[in-house]
Amino acid sequence: MEIKVGFIGCGGIANAHMNALSKIEGVKFVGMCDIDENRAKIASEKFGGEVYTDYEKMLSELNLDVCYICLPPFAHKGQEELCIEKGIPFLVEKPIHLNKNKAKKILEKIKEKNLITAVGYQDRYQDIIDYIKPFFSEGNLGFFTGWWVGGMPGVYWWRRKEMSGGQVVEQTTHIFDMSRYLLGEPVEVFAVKKTGLMMDVENYDVEDASAVSVYFEDGTFGIIFSGCFLKVPGKCGIDFYFKDKVIEYTERYKIKINYGNKIEEIYEKGDLLLKENTAFIEAVKTKNPSLIKSSYEDAYKTLIFTLCANEAMEKKKVIKIKY
Ligand SMILES: NC(=O)c1ccc[n+]([C@@H]2O[C@H](COP(=O)([O-])OP(=O)(O)OC[C@H]3O[C@@H](n4cnc5c(N)ncnc54)[C@H](O)[C@@H]3O)[C@@H](O)[C@H]2O)c1
Repeated sequence: MEIKVGFIGCGGIANAHMNALSKIEGVKFVGMCDIDENRAKIASEKFGGEVYTDYEKMLSELNLDVCYICLPPFAHKGQEELCIEKGIPFLVEKPIHLNKNKAKKILEKIKEKNLITAVGYQDRYQDIIDYIKPFFSEGNLGFFTGWWVGGMPGVYWWRRKEMSGGQVVEQTTHIFDMSRYLLGEPVEVFAVKKTGLMMDVENYDVEDASAVSVYFEDGTFGIIFSGCFLKVPGKCGIDFYFKDKVIEYTERYKIKINYGNKIEEIYEKGDLLLKENTAFIEAVKTKNPSLIKSSYEDAYKTLIFTLCANEAMEKKKVIKIKY
């Protein structure tokens, strides 16, 4: 069965998805849209598809089976709504939006149409995460600490808060999402931030560092650190402190479990984007959304979690998380 794919946004992550999709049988690239025509042309030359600079034109001219929305966070302006109107299942990159009311309206429309959607939280497809997930229902986790501490990403929009949402919303969102995936729903957050370390970067107004403390429904808590100011190698991952073991999840590919009397180390070997894209394409082909580990509905909750963390940071107040 052939699946006709179109892309809105042909930048960094879009090309990573195209590479993964090119390994999946039946996928045919039919449309490449980017406001930067050259990017759409480069993608089209490599993978195929008509070149567009206007997504409305692409969606009305091509009969897409699925659409990939790989836009910078600030650029979500009607693309999802038009896919829903036309009944086109889509995979959208995180963060799904910067405006929670607009994201909620999109979610309502998705539910009305019962449309298959997926969101780019590819870490959920890790075998190492499947391996540790059952530990979280044993009820003996005390707390966790998470980090995404490194340098500033190079894309021009990242350093502007109104364009990216800041590090918590744009980048550390993978850690926030993983904490929800493993622990369940957060109920309240508090956060602090630091600025002033990045005076050498022009046009920069995001926080340099933050710490977000979060309580979950069952009383478990965690602190998630973010930092984009490092000039030396940083740290990314989560440490989970259970009564009978400590699990270190590092650099999004390695798990070390210390049981006291033995240490177990396991490594992720799978191609995560291939797994994520295979799940989405199969879900569409077979009309089985249960293959997808992060839907728009689920990712909406991670968006709210991170936006509440931003709000706590600004207001210096505990924020209750309401979906
Ligand atoms: N899942 C992951 O691990 C992962 C990794 C990287 C990026 N991302 C996310 O993917 C999104 C895109 O990031 P990126 O690194 O690819 O950014 P990018 O800047 O490399 O690419 C974005 C592309 O979108 C195009 N664009 C902007 N506005 C447009 C519009 N209105 N219509 C059509 N095209 C438009 C730009 O010209 C650019 O080519 C971000 O939300 C980012 O957070 C996710």
